[in-house]
Amino acid sequence: MRMRTDQGEAQVPGTHEAPGVRVDVYVKPGDAQRALRAEALQGLCHAPKELSPKWLYDERGSQLFDDITRLPEYYPTRREREILHAHADDIARLSGADTLVELGSGTSEKTRLILDAMDAAGQLKRFVPFDVSEAFLRKAAEGLAREYPGIAVHAVVGDFEQHLGRLPGGGRRLIAFLGGTIGNLKPAQRALFLRELSSGLRPGDGLLLGTDLIKDRERLFAAYNDSAGVTADFNRNVLRVLNRELNADFDPEAFEHLAPFDEHNAWIEMRLISRKAQSVWIGDLEKRVDFAAGECLRTEVSCKFCREQVQEELRDAGLDLAAWWTDADGDFALSLAMKR
Ligand code: AVJ
Repeated sequence: MRMRTDQGEAQVPGTHEAPGVRVDVYVKPGDAQRALRAEALQGLCHAPKELSPKWLYDERGSQLFDDITRLPEYYPTRREREILHAHADDIARLSGADTLVELGSGTSEKTRLILDAMDAAGQLKRFVPFDVSEAFLRKAAEGLAREYPGIAVHAVVGDFEQHLGRLPGGGRRLIAFLGGTIGNLKPAQRALFLRELSSGLRPGDGLLLGTDLIKDRERLFAAYNDSAGVTADFNRNVLRVLNRELNADFDPEAFEHLAPFDEHNAWIEMRLISRKAQSVWIGDLEKRVDFAAGECLRTEVSCKFCREQVQEELRDAGLDLAAWWTDADGDFALSLAMKR
C-alpha cells in the first residue's frame, strides 16, 4: 500500500488511446519493484515480520482473489453486490453525482451497477477509474468507453496512498471505494487516508464506502480459512512474488496459512507461519532472512467494522454519513457520506 516512489508527472496522453479515453500515469512498472525491495528490507529483516497486502496481487494473485470471491465461505463480494443491486438508484439520486471515481477499480461488474443507475437518472458524464496496474486499467477504461459512448473516461494510474491529490476535479464527484479494501489499512493509516481523500473533495462530493462488518468469529474465520485452500494459496503467493521480483528462494510449502480473528483489534490477520527453522536468501537484498520454527510473517490485516465506528471515522475526516445500507443478514455495509 505504501509505494515509496517519487511522484512523477503524468505522461502526455498517448495518441493510441480510444476516443473519449484519457490515461494519466503516475506509477510505472519499475516503481513497484523498487518499493517492494524497500519494504522487504524493512519488513522481513526484523521481527515481527510483516509485508503489506498489496504484494499479494500479481497476475496470479489477482486471479486467486477472484477465485476467493466465488467461494461459499467468502461472503463479502456477494453481499456487497446484493446491496448495490438494491440501492444503486438511491446512490445515484442521493449523491447527485455526474462523475464516478472508482478507487482500486478491479470490480467492473459492481461499477456498472452504479454507472447504469447514474445513466438512467440522466446525470452520468464521466468515469474516473483509479488503479495501480496500468495494463489492467487501460483495458478496463477502453471497455467502459465502448459501453458508455456518451461519457468521458479519464483513467488514473496511481497508488491510493500517494496520488489521491491527482484525481481530476470538476463536476460533482462520487468516490467509490468498494470491497472492504479500506479494511486493509490499520486505524492510523485509515485516518490519514480518509483525511487526504476528504481534503480533495468539495462540499457536495460524496464517498461510497464498502466495509465488512463484525460478526460471529466462526463465519469470519471460515471466510479467510476456506476449506478448498484457495486463501492459503493466495497468501503463499506473496512468497512467489518475492522469489520472482527479488530473486529470493522461499519454499512456499514450508509455510502454513493461518488467518485468525483478532477480537481486540477487530481485524482478521493473515499469517504465513514457518513450519520449521529455515533461512531464506533474498538475492536482490544480498541478505539472509532467518525464520524460527513457528515464526509468523503477517501479510494482511482486514478490519471489520460496526456502524458507529464507520460513522465516527468518516465524521473525523469531514464526511457526514448520509445513508447506511446492509444486506438482509447484516454481513456487509455500504456507506454514503457527503463532504461537509
Ligand atoms: C480485497 C482486501 C477486501 O480483506 O477480505 C480476501 C482480501 N484476503 N481473503 C479482504 C482478502 C483474504 C480482501 N480485500
